[in-house]
Amino acid sequence: MLPKRRRVRAESPPRAGASSAPPPVRFPGVAIYLAEPRMGRSRRAFLTRLAQSKGFRILDTYSSEVTHVVMEQTSAEEAICWQKNMDALLPGSPQPVLLDISWFTESMAAGQPVPAEVRHHLEVPEPRKEPPSSVTMPTYACQRPTPLTHHNTTLSEALETLAEAAGFEGNEGRLLSFSRAASVLKSLPCPVTSLSQLQGLPLFGEHSSRVIQLFTQVFGVGVKTANRWYQEGLRTLDELREQPQRLTHQQKAGLQYYEDLSTPVGRADAEALQQLVAAAVRQTLPGATVTLTGGFRRGKLEGHDVDFLITHPEEGQEVGLLPRVMSQLQRQGLVLYHQYHRSHLDSAHLLRQNYTMDAFERSFCILCLPQPPHAALVGGLQPCPAWRAVRVDLVVTPSSQFPFALLGWTGSQLFERELRRFSRQEKGLWLNSHGLFDPERKTFFHATSEEDIFRLLGLKYLPPEQRNA
Ligand code: UTP
Ligand code: MN
Repeated sequence: MLPKRRRVRAESPPRAGASSAPPPVRFPGVAIYLAEPRMGRSRRAFLTRLAQSKGFRILDTYSSEVTHVVMEQTSAEEAICWQKNMDALLPGSPQPVLLDISWFTESMAAGQPVPAEVRHHLEVPEPRKEPPSSVTMPTYACQRPTPLTHHNTTLSEALETLAEAAGFEGNEGRLLSFSRAASVLKSLPCPVTSLSQLQGLPLFGEHSSRVIQLFTQVFGVGVKTANRWYQEGLRTLDELREQPQRLTHQQKAGLQYYEDLSTPVGRADAEALQQLVAAAVRQTLPGATVTLTGGFRRGKLEGHDVDFLITHPEEGQEVGLLPRVMSQLQRQGLVLYHQYHRSHLDSAHLLRQNYTMDAFERSFCILCLPQPPHAALVGGLQPCPAWRAVRVDLVVTPSSQFPFALLGWTGSQLFERELRRFSRQEKGLWLNSHGLFDPERKTFFHATSEEDIFRLLGLKYLPPEQRNA
């Protein structure tokens, strides 16, 4: 039986002295400096606590680390003058964006940094004398390092929003070009200060994409389904709840755990899950291993799900492992929902060039993760939830395919696409999560590590932290 659920969320920022350490930073790419001239000390202190309670990083002093300067009741001219003085103090350091307080308040309301739009900007955009495109930049994302935190978060997020919008319209071509442009910005060694690059990009219907976005957050609902619901006049999750006949079993589970599944999973939760899964796997098959992949392996601090690869050093031992692991987790009361896909590993599958789904044995599940007891009391008497729902992917691979599966499941998605495109177009080889194939010789390459695969492709090795394309 599941523990009884008690949920209370902290509603307001902690008052001075009410709590000791600020909560962990959730958006490491954003470092805000609240410029004081028109703000006043106590207001600045209040806004600082508010932002910190929501996981934002606020810097007390102005430094080269600052990515966003926020000002209140300040004109563009004053802001630029202020910036010039600061530049004189810190010559040569990257220029942060100068934003009006409206960006800050909207970000607080959204619980995350919103993309900085033209209306938020205080500086008058000046064309750069040396455009960043003069930096040498290899074409494919797999040929260049892409760190998790970089200098162009605002712009890359804006472009990714456009990419997502193109995806909603089913326009794969535009989705890819926006994603690639966003990824190029992430690889740049310095911030882009002119917004002129964004001019001329086609606008999209903001309202409808926002609503469709809301629906696609429900686990199991693809873009097409969301679009159909929207066409049929559904606008909110409550309307959807009133019409359960529309929902598949998986979508009902998604809706039931909607709140948890739309709350990012933190690294500590991912690690706790790894312990639980590893224990269940070891108990079922001694010697089998569990590897954390996906965004967490790339160093992300949070993710939408947690991805694990399971294997055993002796090939063949892993066959039929997953149903037994799932039963073990179920006996522990940890499975809220799961959907099992048996393995389709046969040569016909491995040779097909363009299939997107892997053929591995896999379980697509929602697990119940107990929350640490020390977090049970927040803000005095209010209890925290005793557990939360987390989306988890468990994938089983034979040991000979493990390096390919690890490379394929570490992502990012764009990095994988680029790696496969590079292999095909530049090397004439077919790469997927099962292997690397030479279609002329009709042979598979052997690899024992990710380094081997990069070498076979003639690429410089990039560690997972540099694959955040
Ligand atoms: P995710 O979608 O989990 O992304 O896929 P992520 O990078 O971990 O980011 P979060 O979860 O949103 O924080 C991880 C990797 O696994 C591959 C994806 O292409 C991506 O590279 N993947 C995912 C597959 O190969 N097959 C699948 O069926 C799903
Ligand atoms: Mn993931």
